Amino acid sequence: MHLILSAPENRPFLEQELLRALPTSVLEPLGDSMLALKAPGSWSEIRAAVGQTVFARQWLPEARSFPVPSIRAAAETLVTELIGCLPEGAPWRLQVEPRFGVTDAGRHRCELIRDSVIEQLRKRRRSLLKGLDAVPKAALGDPNRACPLFQPEESLVQLLLTSLEVGFLSILPAPGPFTSMGWVSPFPLGEVPVAVDKAAPSRAFAKLAESERRMGRAIVAGETCVDLGAAPGSWTYQPVQRGARVIAVDRSPLRDDLMRSPRVTFHQGDAFRFVPETPVDWLLCDVIAAPERSIGLVLEWVRERRCRYFVVTIKFKGQEDYAQLDVLKREMPRWVESFQLLHLCANKNEACVFGTVGDGPLKNAG
Ligand SMILES: C[S@@+](CC[C@H](N)C(=O)[O-])C[C@H]1O[C@@H](n2cnc3c(N)ncnc32)[C@H](O)[C@@H]1O
Repeated sequence: MHLILSAPENRPFLEQELLRALPTSVLEPLGDSMLALKAPGSWSEIRAAVGQTVFARQWLPEARSFPVPSIRAAAETLVTELIGCLPEGAPWRLQVEPRFGVTDAGRHRCELIRDSVIEQLRKRRRSLLKGLDAVPKAALGDPNRACPLFQPEESLVQLLLTSLEVGFLSILPAPGPFTSMGWVSPFPLGEVPVAVDKAAPSRAFAKLAESERRMGRAIVAGETCVDLGAAPGSWTYQPVQRGARVIAVDRSPLRDDLMRSPRVTFHQGDAFRFVPETPVDWLLCDVIAAPERSIGLVLEWVRERRCRYFVVTIKFKGQEDYAQLDVLKREMPRWVESFQLLHLCANKNEACVFGTVGDGPLKNAG
């Protein structure tokens, strides 16, 4: 059985999405924001068959019920399991989280279980303790950046409490978390908190910030971005703050300070007709348009290799059109190294597609 978490309002759409991909699977709702998926095949076969899922925030592959009679007893059982299956000295992450319906219920108990696991590992298997959360700090060299992406040698242990006395346990040994990126999130429960910058022109800020965190890649000084549908300018604002340059395209002007910025080149006009003279590092697009137009736009930019990275919002009017996103899943070119198609925590009736086109030669490049 595999468990899949979604935002509560998205669970019906997740169900539809999974049934389109795996019509013979059995789906059992567990609460308002969780589904159990039963289908034959290994985890990698399920992943290949399902593809990207827009409405899944987190997967717990091969999950099973896990009793929590007491904090100490649960930690003891878990430590025994870990000693039996995790390689000594190798890095792993432990996510102990509550899922009772009310977001924070049980968080304290989860913290106590985690502390007890650490205490018991200290006594019973110190070599395993060394690997706990060992990669994040070492791999990125930036201790302030929480939750970097999984490394190939990392394993992931998820314990999800669904009440005070019971939960589900999923252990995904290396390289499973690395090869399952886009399904299994490094962020606990697949939720990405983003600090809002009050100086940004609008709350659209959070969508780009969340996408960068999920990609494990941020726009940096010296890079060039095209921002389509850029006004009033929260997406443009972020790369500009970091010393990148932005070609901003909109029918309306951006906020005054951004219009005056030497790092911003403003093009007044139709985002769908804009083609950069040379390839750029980033395509950013948050234009308000019919979903098929935004889907066509990202495919065109990627096929023409006009950018190395892309973050594009697909907006919806109602709830009937979500199946159109399957076009992206089917038609994303093979040279796109990685992409994710996701309803972000910061999204309203939208989805976001972001990814890396790859290091191959850029079209028209030198
Ligand atoms: C949601 S807003 C973008 C918000 C922006 N990302 C930000 O952070 O401030 C959508 C923008 O798309 C622009 N837009 C819609 N259709 C467009 C088109 N065909 N060409 C250019 N801009 C367009 C609108 O003028 C609007 O400013």
